[in-house]
Amino acid sequence: MKQYPNVFVFDHPLIRHKVSILRDKNTGMKEFRELIEEITTLMTYESMRDVELVPVEVATPLEKTVQYRIPEESVAIVPILRAGLGMVNGVHKVFPTARVGHIGMYRDEETLEPQEYYCKLPDGVDHKTVYLLDPMLATGGSACDALTALKKRGATNIKFMAIIAAPDGIEKVAAEHPDVKVYVSTLDRCLNEHGYILPGLGDAGDRLYGTK
Ligand code: PRP
Ligand code: URA
Repeated sequence: MKQYPNVFVFDHPLIRHKVSILRDKNTGMKEFRELIEEITTLMTYESMRDVELVPVEVATPLEKTVQYRIPEESVAIVPILRAGLGMVNGVHKVFPTARVGHIGMYRDEETLEPQEYYCKLPDGVDHKTVYLLDPMLATGGSACDALTALKKRGATNIKFMAIIAAPDGIEKVAAEHPDVKVYVSTLDRCLNEHGYILPGLGDAGDRLYGTK
């Protein structure tokens, strides 16, 4: 696959270890949910290398010093419903005060076309880093539509995080939204004829929430 400057695929051993358990069809709902959260926290940490810190004066027990902190209220979290919800707590572990918006999307099972059914965002997305979350980037249709919806409502600085991606999805997002930084824990081989990622992990929403 072509290399894209704004697409970051992690190959951290701890993330790979956890993704291998996530994929296993014998991993149950509780462990699956916990792994999605843990992997998301690790990915968030890795995605923060470009964060701009602000100086603050700190008084230690010995003297005053200028130190650097992440600005308050600098991040918003937006999961794509439903499966993206499973990643929210993972980002909240790193940014506990981040406000949360929601975008509702589902893929039409026949056409694979994404359908938007809900969008509610916190105020100020125009001056925050918006973390758009979905564990699966398959054809890329849902992610591209969600990114367009965010931009239409003023977001300019967006990071999209997916746990597993297919090359098709990465290529579509990189072509349609080259300004968005895309963080993926694992790049898989391809899609099957039903738009499922191979080897993948199956239907992320169903495995998170125990539906079929
Ligand atoms: C899944 C997944 C993504 C989308 C990815 O959602 O969580 O949102 O498919 O596929 P795409 O890249 O081809 O658009 P699904 O439509 O199954 O909805 P759900 O989260 O409610 O289960
Ligand atoms: N959505 C999923 O949940 N899994 C896939 O493999 C593709 C889309």
